[in-house]
Order: sequence, then C-alpha cells, then structure tokens
Amino acid sequence: MRSVEIRQKFFDFFSDKGHKIVASAPIVNNSDPTLMFTNAGMNQFKDNFLGTKEIIHSRVADTQKCLRVSGKHNDLEEVGLDSYHHTMFEMLGNWSFGDYFKSEAIDWAWELLTKVYGLDGNRLYATIFEGASEDALERDVEAFDLWKKHLPEDRILNGSKKDNFWEMGESGPCGPCSEIHIDLRSEEERAAISGADLVNQDHPLVIEVWNLVFIQFNRLLSGQLEPLPQNHVDTGMGFERLCMAIQGKKSNYETDVFTPFIHEIEKITGFTYSNQYSEEAKVDTSFRVVVDHIRAVAFTIADGQIPGNTGAGYVIRRILRRAVRYYYTFLNWQQPLMYQLIPMLADYFADVFPELQAQKDFVAKVILEEEKGFLRTLEEGIQRFNLLTIENNQVAGEDAFTLYDTFGFPIDLTALMAKEKGYTVDLDGFNTALSQQKERSRKDAVQQVGDWNIVSDVKSTVFKGYDHDSLEGVKVTRMRSVAKKDKEILQLVLDQTPFYAEGGGQIGDRGRLTSANGEVIAVLNTLRENELIVHIVDRFPSDVHGSLKAEIDVTRRKSIENNHSATHLLHAALRQVLGSHVQQKGSLVTDKYLRFDFSHYEKLSTEELAQIESIVQEKITANIPLQEDRSIPIAEAQAKGAMMLFGEKYGDTVRMITFEEDYSRELCGGCHVDATGNLQLFRITSESAIAAGIRRIEAVTGSGAIQYVNNEIEELNSIRALFKNTVGLPGQIQKLQEENKGLQKSLEELKLEGSKQLKTELVNKLEAHNDVMLLAECTDGMDGKILKNMVFEIAQLHPSSIIVMGDRSETSAQILIYIDKELVSKYELNAGSLIRSISSYIKGGGGGQAFFATAGGKNPDGVAEAVQHIKDDILTKIKAV
Ligand code: ALA
Repeated sequence: MRSVEIRQKFFDFFSDKGHKIVASAPIVNNSDPTLMFTNAGMNQFKDNFLGTKEIIHSRVADTQKCLRVSGKHNDLEEVGLDSYHHTMFEMLGNWSFGDYFKSEAIDWAWELLTKVYGLDGNRLYATIFEGASEDALERDVEAFDLWKKHLPEDRILNGSKKDNFWEMGESGPCGPCSEIHIDLRSEEERAAISGADLVNQDHPLVIEVWNLVFIQFNRLLSGQLEPLPQNHVDTGMGFERLCMAIQGKKSNYETDVFTPFIHEIEKITGFTYSNQYSEEAKVDTSFRVVVDHIRAVAFTIADGQIPGNTGAGYVIRRILRRAVRYYYTFLNWQQPLMYQLIPMLADYFADVFPELQAQKDFVAKVILEEEKGFLRTLEEGIQRFNLLTIENNQVAGEDAFTLYDTFGFPIDLTALMAKEKGYTVDLDGFNTALSQQKERSRKDAVQQVGDWNIVSDVKSTVFKGYDHDSLEGVKVTRMRSVAKKDKEILQLVLDQTPFYAEGGGQIGDRGRLTSANGEVIAVLNTLRENELIVHIVDRFPSDVHGSLKAEIDVTRRKSIENNHSATHLLHAALRQVLGSHVQQKGSLVTDKYLRFDFSHYEKLSTEELAQIESIVQEKITANIPLQEDRSIPIAEAQAKGAMMLFGEKYGDTVRMITFEEDYSRELCGGCHVDATGNLQLFRITSESAIAAGIRRIEAVTGSGAIQYVNNEIEELNSIRALFKNTVGLPGQIQKLQEENKGLQKSLEELKLEGSKQLKTELVNKLEAHNDVMLLAECTDGMDGKILKNMVFEIAQLHPSSIIVMGDRSETSAQILIYIDKELVSKYELNAGSLIRSISSYIKGGGGGQAFFATAGGKNPDGVAEAVQHIKDDILTKIKAV
C-alpha cells in the first residue's frame, strides 16, 4: 500500500464513522502564546476541549503537519540518527468533542489497524495509565478492560505518567492515554525476547504508532488539574511510522514517503544511501537529515514563516543549517542542494497540503538564498576555526559552542577538524554552554501567562465591534495579572466587547470601561489568546461583578479602518500591476500607517509604484461601498474568488470583505471603512526588500497621507530656497552632483600624490632588527585603501619585513599589520592575534590572517599606544629566538 493510499484510507475510515475531515492547521502557531509551532493534531482544537469555542462538529479527523523542535516536545538532535524521529511529521488524528469516549476510540483503532491496514494483531501491544498519586489519579482500569476485548492481558502494559498521561505543554488540556505499540522484529528475535520487554525502551523496531488520549482535565500553570465539563478523545498516529509498519520496512526512510527524495540526492551528489545507523554512518545520516529537514523548512516557509534571527524564524534557520552542514561535510557538496527538492516535495503533497504547490517557486527561492548565505557563513566558520586560540592543544568549549551556534558547526565536525590538527575539544565545556542555551530557548519558546481567575462561567467573548463602538451592560468573566519584566500587566476578559483584539495584522483597540459609579478604567490594548479577547487595563474594577460601559477610541479606530481597507486595495493593485504570484506575506495595520509584505522578486520601479498608487487612488475616488459577508460557507467564498492567505486557519464559515466584486475580495476578520472614499488620499512612503523574494511597502492614508504630502512639499520648498534660480531644479542638482564628482576625483589624485611622498618618508624609517626590517608608524587621516596599498608596496621593497601602521582621523582609528610569511613561522608571529590584543586601545576590533590583519575603532587617541604595544610584542618575539 502506497503512503498516499494509507493516508486516504484513514480519512475514509473515520469519515464512514461520522467524522468531518478537516484541513491541517498551519505548522506555525500564531494564535497560542504557549506554543511556537504546532506540536500535535489537537492544538487547533484546544478551545474545543476547554469549552471556550462553540463545537460545530463533534467528530473530526485530519492529518496535521507537526513540528517538535522546541518547547516541551523536542526531538531535533535525534533526527537523522535513528530510523523513526522527525522534525516535521504528519499526525493522523481523530477527535471526539464530548461525543464518543474510550470504548469507540479503542475499538476503532483496533479495527483500522488490523482489518483495514491488515497489521498482525499478534504484534500489537497497548499501554494504559498506571495512575499517579501526586495528581490523585487512579489506574485506567476502564481502558484496560476495553483492551481485553482485543488483546490478552499480558500484552496490555501499565505505563507511567511520563508515557501515559499526555499533556500538550506546561499547561492546557490533558488526560490519561493509551498507546498502541507495534513489534516489527523478525520471528526469531521475537521468540528470543518478548516485545513486552521492549515497549517504550527506544527499540527502533518496537515503536509507538498511535496514541489515544482521553482528555478529561485542564492543567493549570499552578500544577493543579481542573476537571473539564465533558470528556473528549484526542488521538495521534505517526503517519511515517505507520507506513513503515504497513510497507514491511525497518525504517521510516525506506518508505515511499522518503525514498524518492533519497534517490534524488543520490543523483545530485553521487553518493549512495545504504540505510546504516551508527556513529560512523555519516553519509546515511546526512541523507536522512536532508530529506527530513527539507520538509520542516518548506512547510514552515509556505505557512508564512521566513527564516530569521529570532523566534520561530530562528528555529527554522537552525534546522536548515543543520541540514546544510551535514551535506557540506559528509556528502561533500558545497553548493545549494535542498531547494532542488522542492518541486518533488510539492508534487508529493499536492493533494494533502496544496499550500506548497501553490508557492513552490517562492519557497524554493527563499531556501536557495538561505542555503547560499549559510554556505558562505560555513566558509567563514572554517576560517574562524583556523584562527582559534588554542591552549593545551584543546579547542575551548566556548569556541566549539560559538561555532555550533553561530556557524552551525555540529560538534562532530569541530571535533573532526580539531583531530586533523592534532587537537581535542573540551566537550564538557561545550555541553555546558549547550545546555545553558537550551534552557534559555525553552524559556523563550513559551510565554508564561498564568492562570485566570474565573469571575463568571461565561466561557467565550462575543465580539460586537463590527457594529458597535460602545456597549452597555458588559460583565467581566475572567481576570489575571501577569508579571513581565518588573511590570504588572492586568488583563480582563468580558462577556461581550466592541474592542478588536490584535490579529490579522490589525493592531488592538484602545478605549475605556466605565462602571455604574463612574470609575474609569483605561483599556491600553486588546490582544487575542486563542478564542479569548483579552483587554489590557490600567486597573481592575473595584466591583468585578458590576456592569460596565465599554467604549473604544473611535478616532483611532477610524484611522485603523482606513489603513486596513487600504491594505486590501493595495493588495489587489499589486496583483494587477505585478502579477498573480504576489502573495501576502505579512501585514501591519495601525492608526498611523500600513505595512504590507508580499512575495515578489525584484525592486519595484518608480513607474510600477506610481501605477499602483494611482489605481488605489482611483478606487478611493470611486467611493466603493464595503460589501461584507459576515458568515458565508468557505466553499462559496472560494467559488466567488475570495483571496485566502496561506498560514491562516479558516473555519467552515468565513467573513468575506469585498470592494468591487472584480477588484478586491478577501477573507478577513478585520475592521473596514463603510466606503473607500473615507480614505481620501493614499501615498506609498517606502518600498524595500525584507528577505529573499519578499518586498515591503509602507503607505499612509487620510490625514496621515495629507501630512506626508505636506512634509514632502515643505522639503522641496527648502531645497528651492537653497538655489537662486528655482526653475529647472533637477537639472541644477544634477550639475552640482557632476561638479562634486569632479572635485572628488581631483582630491583623490592629490591624496595619492601625497601618499607617494609619505611612502618615501616611511621607507626611510624602516629599522633592522636581526634579519627583520621593521616599520611601526602612525599617519593621520589616510584613506584605508591607499594605506593598505602603501603597506604592501613597502613590503615588496624588502622581502623580510614587518609593517605596523596606525592611522588617526578625527573620530576613528585604524591599524594594519603585515608580516612576511616566512617570518610568521620563523618567529611564531600572528598578525590576527596581535590585532586582537589591541582592541581595547582603539575601542574597536578586527581580525585577519597570520600574515595580514586589520582593525578599526572609535578611539584615535589610542592609536600610537596600540602601535607601540604591537611593536614591543614583535620585538620581544624576534629577540627571543
Ligand atoms: N495529542 C496526542 C499526541 O500528540 C495524541 O500524542
């Protein structure tokens, strides 16, 4: 059975049992502050379990793109070394929200595995929760009894809290679970050792395939378990492992989920994959790392996360880099490789995760640029390694860690390079630095939010802000105070609200709450936490049970609406002018301006920008009324051509915003103007690149645009004032520029002339020490390039020379050291180390190689001392020999 068929059979099976098959949520989790990436199928249903969201379908199934590379569930360092861990994997899941419970979940799992997939029931084991006294939880006898229908008692095993009580993170929905394990070993091996002894023992062929979680509790941050009003089922089956079991393979990488990609890399690199697992099997490990990591990277980018230096972007960048340094080192491949796999990956997933197919050029481009950039960094890392200060023939743990963290060097690569030079690596020091960093990133990955104080049992907030700026009779339902960097943040949830919570690029509303006795509470911001609308306030009401009047800051909101509607008009204009490859990659809508990021490969020309601006302005002048369909079936919206965003989670019904049927139609939850005329004026204020293949436009509307234009005119007037004849201003400026260029050239010629004279003077100052000709001098205000040329010219005059030059300008300092290569080894001199030793004098730094190094700094007053210091060091060494 091919993997595609295995997946389909899962959907068919649960669809027959009344389940609605839904789409995977995005792999990047933007809606839950406790999670960076989706780490389980149940994430998107968290609110269904907690009861803060209305349940539309009580039975649901899907395949979810999951990533376990940060936070509570983190497998990254395992991936590639074994046959069954992955960064991105598919989790097949079925859910019951207050509908069926343990009995059906267990029976159906058994039926699917043994009847539909034809797995041998004799090779299956079930584990059940043994209970935990600290949580006052009993053994799951119910599950045990239910399993007895299918399995003999000796194949139903007790499991500890670690294995058999499933929790999503530090807090959230949880419950006892029952896992199904499969023993894929040969008959002989099974006869020798019972599979029961190998369950949960990290044996590569006795593995968990399916986890059935019986969600009954919410874990509070205090550690308490809070029983949920209803019982739910949450299951997760590792798709790639299931394929291995059904296809009779010994490794996930031997299934058709991965083999085509392995073959492709064989074709590209000329290496052959042989499915070995050991310390030495670096080539095979590299294959596995690349075919695994490309999936994580591709889908994260397709879901809108660009590799970067912080947060989720940084995690993704590190995954990509881990793959690059494997192929670079062990597949001996020093050019971009992974981006070449994208078309194949997009085809493989076309029916199940079409977002990749739809953006494959863009994704490939981003990966290509990222690979190119990192390959350059790797080269730098190797140079960096060669310049390390080595004591006692050992690479310091800190240095190994910097190479790992900044340059993506795996520790075994550093160890290998060290060994070639006869050094060892301080592994303990490395591991300490590594675990410190892990601790930091664990803390960064989740935002500690604290538990809510429940004021009333109303679970959700009704948002009324599309129609109302203010509401009376509003009640507080929850409150909480969160400590953040010595500041207390006070948060309120209301039963109904006109406040829009930050989301979909639009910033949160501000305003106030007034109590019946006139107490005024400022709402400083409004944020979303899954389905909850959280008001950040300056104080809690003195009577938390009283009625409040809630009012938003209307003027501010109107400006936000202008900018949000302008974003839609701009998006449509971009697609008209540049083409339909333009996809929204991020947006920010504030009361001051709007920012729109989109996929496009080159800088926009002045003409294109002008054209876009004028299309948007035309639409404003036409005063197009807003057409809002607040709740239409998603299929209908799609049929009507509504633009959807990748990386967004949509429900069965959606809100559709249209400004002229054939012009702009988007799915959007934000706030908009009643008619485009409100925008008055639209002006683009900047256009730039923010990453490979992504451009950014910033723009203003309404009074912001008028202000912008006025400022431009004012600037122009002040330029005019500088010229006597204000006619033909551009021509005058051009003339001035040309004159300037001419002057510049003459100046450089003069400087060069001066440097020739200076050179003659300096040559006369060369001093002989032993067999060395040494020059250590300072100059003033020299151009860096001229100075460097001069140093090399002087060096050519004397084969055995050392030249140390310092230069002072008004605010900066530079130092150059040249050491003849033979002298480098003869006297064990190193220009790179010397240059680093004087950084405190010049308040700056630099580097280079043993024979030539440069540094720059902010302190011209330290130059003479620095030169003297270097000279003394050199003389000591020369004399020491
Ligand atoms: N949520 C459960 C898991 O991830 C099914 O294992």
